[in-house]
Amino acid sequence: MCGIVGYVGPNDTVEVLLNGLRRLEYRGYDSAGVAVIDDAHEISVRKRSGKLARLEELLEANPLQAAGTGIGHTRWATHGGPTDANAHPHLGDGGKLALIHNGIVENFAELREELEGDGVDLISETDTEVVAALVGREVARQGDLETAFRSVVTRLEGTFTLLAMHRDEPGKVVAARHHSPLVVGLGDGENFLGSDVAAFVSSTRRAVAVDEDNIAVITPEEVRITDFAGHPVEFEEFEVEWDAEAADKGGWSSFMAKEINDQPDAVENTVRGRVSPSGVEIPELTALGDERLRGIDRIIIIACGTASYAGQVGAYAIEQWARIPVEVQLSHEFRYREPVLSDRTMVISVSQSGETMDTLMAVKYAAERGVTTVSVCNTQSATIPRESDAAVYTHAGPEVAVASTKAFVAQITALYLIGLHLGRVKGALSAEAAAQAIAQFDELPAKVREAVDTHEQIAQLAHWMADTRSVLFLGRHVGYPIALEGALKLKEIAYIHAEGFAAGELKHGPIALIDHGQPVFVLVPSPRTSPLMHSKVVSNIQEIRARGARVIAVVEKGDTAVLPYADDVIRLPLADAFFEPLLQVVPLQWFALELSTAKGLDVDQPRNLAKSVTVE
Ligand code: F6R
Repeated sequence: MCGIVGYVGPNDTVEVLLNGLRRLEYRGYDSAGVAVIDDAHEISVRKRSGKLARLEELLEANPLQAAGTGIGHTRWATHGGPTDANAHPHLGDGGKLALIHNGIVENFAELREELEGDGVDLISETDTEVVAALVGREVARQGDLETAFRSVVTRLEGTFTLLAMHRDEPGKVVAARHHSPLVVGLGDGENFLGSDVAAFVSSTRRAVAVDEDNIAVITPEEVRITDFAGHPVEFEEFEVEWDAEAADKGGWSSFMAKEINDQPDAVENTVRGRVSPSGVEIPELTALGDERLRGIDRIIIIACGTASYAGQVGAYAIEQWARIPVEVQLSHEFRYREPVLSDRTMVISVSQSGETMDTLMAVKYAAERGVTTVSVCNTQSATIPRESDAAVYTHAGPEVAVASTKAFVAQITALYLIGLHLGRVKGALSAEAAAQAIAQFDELPAKVREAVDTHEQIAQLAHWMADTRSVLFLGRHVGYPIALEGALKLKEIAYIHAEGFAAGELKHGPIALIDHGQPVFVLVPSPRTSPLMHSKVVSNIQEIRARGARVIAVVEKGDTAVLPYADDVIRLPLADAFFEPLLQVVPLQWFALELSTAKGLDVDQPRNLAKSVTVE
């Protein structure tokens, strides 16, 4: 949710912090703030409600003189509205300490009461100010920030990453994490802290993922990590796979436009090294041992939002290829239903960020019950892959727009590879059938590129439909989750009411929504590979058309059966049934983007949302 950055070093502190916040703004954009230890060895703060640009204006009008130590925050409001007073950093110890926080402190009300009983004045409504006051009180009592942190963190219930600095300890930032992400960036004579590597990737690609319930202390020369009790913890460095340019807009009007355009590469990079003419092999699954994989008799895919729709598409293919029953559950529903699990169950989590709290908690729940956990994740060294038995990374590159696009196609691709791997290991899939699927992967990037090239046609369509107030999406089989995804994209960034339905469900209720001029996107399966489903969907089109719907048919090239009943036809390259969704989703992404743009909205940062949902 919130984005956090910390810096100690000789470079322009405010610029380093702002640079980090610009790259982290996708995590939350309700307010932003920075604090530095200034030339006079005092803490100075600038913070403002609204997007980062407002903080930048404030800093221009009222600059900070920083002396090499600072912290910065971009907020997605939880406790307390997005006001200037509630923005982070918050102060403690009479203004000598500044602190920022990502997460929710659940017992903040009783802690607040305790502080107020102690005569401490609190000026904001946030849980964070309570923590700042507690740490400040402990510094005053115990003498140093690190000791103070250790006594406070064990009193906090909920989730947190905390960063703090104290004017009496310049050149040092102390951080702690509990169920919320934290990474260290290792520089030369400078060090960084961040919610993710984007915070510092323009300065260094050397990083360390801080483990659960650890405290990190950075100075320009040193990084130290301990557990909450103060015992030193060994840590491993990793190299960030992408560079700062990959997370730049690169001339596109929005990150989302760039990321839609990145999709052919996202697919190709996710397949690379895992497919050869002799078959599919995912080394991370091989490492689990074939015996263990052969024993799996049930798979549950857990995810939220777009990632869950990728899971739904993947489920059809994994079940077909591996002949293992697969179900998909929303992460936040999973553990509350007390699912029946065994050591022969595999839970596959799907998460772009690898930090979604609902999914993380579901993975932990499954792991505690002896289930084999596999993570499909796009973010190196994120918490979910590190908590899982195996991590199958998607290689879509950094996804910055809040609306997920390239991660989605990469997730489906990774799930397909898992299905093929399991199918072969279980002996359920013939070498010929696997080879046929592998051949589709070879052609996929070029076909996705053709789907991306529908942009101009879709922009025209969106222009005509700029006043649309409701859009429906219909799909069957793997087209059904794509209908759900098309609707989600439209709700999310164009704030338009949209619903996705399984085409077969139409007559069981939703057809009552069809009125004169109601736009309906229909994802039409191929008449070559799925003739039966194709004819059923064409019948559905006739039924809604007869009731006045405006039909936008997404078909494969050469399908003429729909022409008499469609107002608009979007043509896509030919692909086998399982590969159609990877093409069909692309025009729906463009459609949402173009309608959002036509309404003058912020495509990349839709209201009320944040990219990485690290609270339950
Ligand atoms: C929608 C979207 C969200 C995410 C969901 C899960 O465009 O991006 O629905 O898919 O919040 O996030 P991750 O994949 O990071 O677990």
